Amino acid sequence: MKYPIAKPVLIGNERKYLIDAFDSTWISSQGSYIAEVEKQFAAFCNVEEALTCSNGTVALHLALLAINLQAGDEVIIPAVTYIATANAVSYMGGKPVFVDIRPDTININENAIEAAITPKTKAIIVVHLYGHPCEMDAIMAIAKKHNLVVIEDAAEAHGALYYSIENGIKAAKPAGSIGDIATFSFFGNKIITSGEGGMVTTNNPEFADTIRLMKDQGMSTEKRYWFPVIGYNYRMTNLQAAILLGQLENVDWHLTQRRRIAAKYINNLKENPLILIPPELENVKSSYWMFTMLLSGKIAHKRDAVMAELRNRGVDSRPIFYPLPEMPPYFEENNRVKYPVSFELSYSGFNLPSSNYLTDEDIDIICEEVNSVIKN
Ligand SMILES: Cc1ncc(COP(=O)(O)O)c(C=O)c1O
Repeated sequence: MKYPIAKPVLIGNERKYLIDAFDSTWISSQGSYIAEVEKQFAAFCNVEEALTCSNGTVALHLALLAINLQAGDEVIIPAVTYIATANAVSYMGGKPVFVDIRPDTININENAIEAAITPKTKAIIVVHLYGHPCEMDAIMAIAKKHNLVVIEDAAEAHGALYYSIENGIKAAKPAGSIGDIATFSFFGNKIITSGEGGMVTTNNPEFADTIRLMKDQGMSTEKRYWFPVIGYNYRMTNLQAAILLGQLENVDWHLTQRRRIAAKYINNLKENPLILIPPELENVKSSYWMFTMLLSGKIAHKRDAVMAELRNRGVDSRPIFYPLPEMPPYFEENNRVKYPVSFELSYSGFNLPSSNYLTDEDIDIICEEVNSVIKN
C-alpha cells in the first residue's frame, strides 16, 4: 500500500533513548525513563498525576478500578467507539449503556445522556473520537447533577483542547485534564507512540494511589512483596517509556503536522458535493488523529466499494467504528432505531491516511484519487 492509514514517525531522540535504556540493562518496568515520561506527560496534560501502563485498554480498566466500579454498575458510553471502551466496563462486571452520537462531531450526544441515566449509573466514559473533544462543559454539568464520575477516553486525543467557559471566562483545557480521570493509548498508530503503551491522568491523589497499586500486582507501595489486594501486571517497560519520551519531546511538531494534513484534506475535498467533512467546533482544537470523511447523496451507501477502489489505487482507509450495539457481545434488538445517527455515520464514513509521514504532495495525490473515485 503506497499510502498506509498510519505509520509512526520516529525522528527525535527515540532511538538514542531506546539504546540508552537498553545499554543501562533497565529493560523491564523500572528505570529512569518511566518516571521522566510520567512527569512530562503530566505537565503536557496540565494534571497532577500521569501513570504509565501497558496499553490504552488497561488504562481504562485501571481507571474503572480507581473509581471502584462494582459488578452491576452501569457506565454510559457512546455507541460508536473502539470496543476497548466497552470491554473495560465488562472486565469489571459492569454494564455499558450506549448513547447515540452527534451527527456533526461523531462524539457522544450530550443531550441524550440524561435519558440513559438510571439509579445504577456510576460513570460516563466520553471518547474524544478521532481527536475531536466532546462537549465537556455540558457533560461535566450532567455528571455533577447526577453525582457521576467522568472518565475521558483520550486514546485518540493527545494534545486536543477544549475551551471551557467558567463564570464567563474561557479556559483552554487539554484532553485528559477535564474529567475526573482520563486514559490514553500509545499504540503505533497514535499521535505519539511507544509501540504499545498507555497512560492514566488524574488530579485525584486517591485514584492515582489505587492505580499505582493495581498496575503493579496489588503490591503495597510501602512494603515490598506485601499484597493487600488482587492486582494486575499492567506496567509499561522502560524501553517503551524511552521511545515515548522521544516522541513526547516533539509532540508539538506531531500535532502541527496533524493539523497541516487535515487542513490540506479539507481544502482539497471541500468542493466535492458527495463528501461531508465533520466540522471542528469553535470551542475545541482537534488533534485530528484520523482525518474522517462521510459520503453523501447517491454514494452514501457505497462506502465499502469506495474504500476497495481506493485500496486498488494504493490509498489505504478504514471504516468509522461499527456501532457497538451491533456487535455480538453488545448486541441489542432494534439497534438501528435506538441509535440512528450511529448507524448512519458509521456506514457512510471512513478515515483517510492521517500520519505525519504524509507530505502536502502526498495529500494532493490521495485527494486526486478520492475525488476521481467519488464523483457524480
Ligand atoms: C477510543 C479508544 N479507546 C481505547 C483504545 C485502546 O488502546 P490500546 O489499543 O492501546 O489498548 C483505543 C485504541 O485504539 C481507542 O481508539
